[in-house]
Amino acid sequence: MKTIIEPFRIKSVEPIRMTTRAERERLIREADFNLFSLASDDVLIDLLTDSGTGAMSSEQWAAIMRGDESYAGSPSFYRFEAAVKNLMPFKHIIPTHQGRAAESILFAMLGGAGQIIPNNTHFDTTRGNIEASGARADDLVIAEGTDPTSLHPFKGNMDLERLTAHLEEHGDAVPCVMLTITNNAGGGQPVSLENIRATAEIAHKFGKLFIIDGCRFAENAFFIKTREPGQGNREIVDIVRDCFAVADAMTMSAKKDGFGNIGGWLAINDDDLAVEARTHLIRTEGFPTYGGMSGRDLDALAQGLTEIVDEDYLRYRLRTNAYIVEKLVKLGIPVVQPAGGHAVFIDARAWLSHVDPLAYPGQAVAVALYEIGGIRSCEIGTAMFGRQPDGSEKPAAMDLVRLAFPRRTYTQSHADYIVEAFEELQGIISTLKGYKIVEEPALMRHFTCKFEKM
Ligand code: F0G
Repeated sequence: MKTIIEPFRIKSVEPIRMTTRAERERLIREADFNLFSLASDDVLIDLLTDSGTGAMSSEQWAAIMRGDESYAGSPSFYRFEAAVKNLMPFKHIIPTHQGRAAESILFAMLGGAGQIIPNNTHFDTTRGNIEASGARADDLVIAEGTDPTSLHPFKGNMDLERLTAHLEEHGDAVPCVMLTITNNAGGGQPVSLENIRATAEIAHKFGKLFIIDGCRFAENAFFIKTREPGQGNREIVDIVRDCFAVADAMTMSAKKDGFGNIGGWLAINDDDLAVEARTHLIRTEGFPTYGGMSGRDLDALAQGLTEIVDEDYLRYRLRTNAYIVEKLVKLGIPVVQPAGGHAVFIDARAWLSHVDPLAYPGQAVAVALYEIGGIRSCEIGTAMFGRQPDGSEKPAAMDLVRLAFPRRTYTQSHADYIVEAFEELQGIISTLKGYKIVEEPALMRHFTCKFEKM
């Protein structure tokens, strides 16, 4: 059969409140054209993020009833720890309430003034935690990784030559080398097993810790299986184990490939670092056998981690994005190719060539998609990154719009509806106008700023 079906049946549903276009035009105006300010009940298809928004399985809901809320030594923790170690054989598993809490603990230990931390591309919160410690965050992804049209199969790969030069230049200032799989900030693009191993080898040659941000490890493993020579006949779990076998530590947001609504962890091999991390954990998150989670969260993740490596699920998961990307390409809409693991990225700067980057073409696309179809996406461009520390304004590297797909939540008819909304938008694209920001905070303005249509 050619059709890749959703490999699940639906047992419990959440109704979508239908809205009219006139209603949505009013609602987005009242929200000052900022999609973060909308009530989610006013959204038909919510693609703001894939983080914590997925559907849990019946087995996960059953596991929640098993959750044990003991402060210390809960069996839920041991089930969670075993599930993590089954995939990622690190010595110490330290539970946190989400990914950024693991990052905060890690960089409280490894960061600090004068330190420099390279990555393929740091996610915002990783960068934020590094910079808050006084350290610097450098992005060293391969050149193809920032070219929306390049069809390279592993656009998330670390640029190994630049990494070597970086380590030769900065030597003692670098405490660790990071690698984000998949590379979210670069379009959800995967990193090959070969590149993971080579990055680890270079880090170790220079005596540095090698740390993986593993948020979307299962999607990355499926890309390895389907795209990397020699990997096609291997089990996903074996590929996952190989990815982490060469790492000294990892950070994780279990809200992504943990099938959790909340949760995360920091995993470390070094005993001394683990003692230090647990001390931070007790001060900021909780006792080491629950960290920032309840016992029921830990059990939901223990079960989720067995489901996320299911090949039928992953085939369907990655097909959803590829299906939409193929149709958008046919419509002549510029998109980041090949399709990423968790999201579809629209190249708004190319699509709205008549709108200046400083008039936020990505915001114009995101607002129009909401007005036309009630679809909530997210601008990742000049509105998000354009404000400089001195308050001036500069175009971001790219003006993208991200449609991130919650796991197991929407169906193929939702995908067809999204494509239909794009088709309608394509018909009026030359009439779209830019935006200006009329009110903004000094930092992370995109969450709360107010826009006005030009
Ligand atoms: N690392 C990556 C690669 C991420 O994508 C995220 C979150 C984090 C770390 C932080 O994890 O949210 O649990 O604290 N990304 C979400 C997103 C928010 O929408 O892309 P967290």
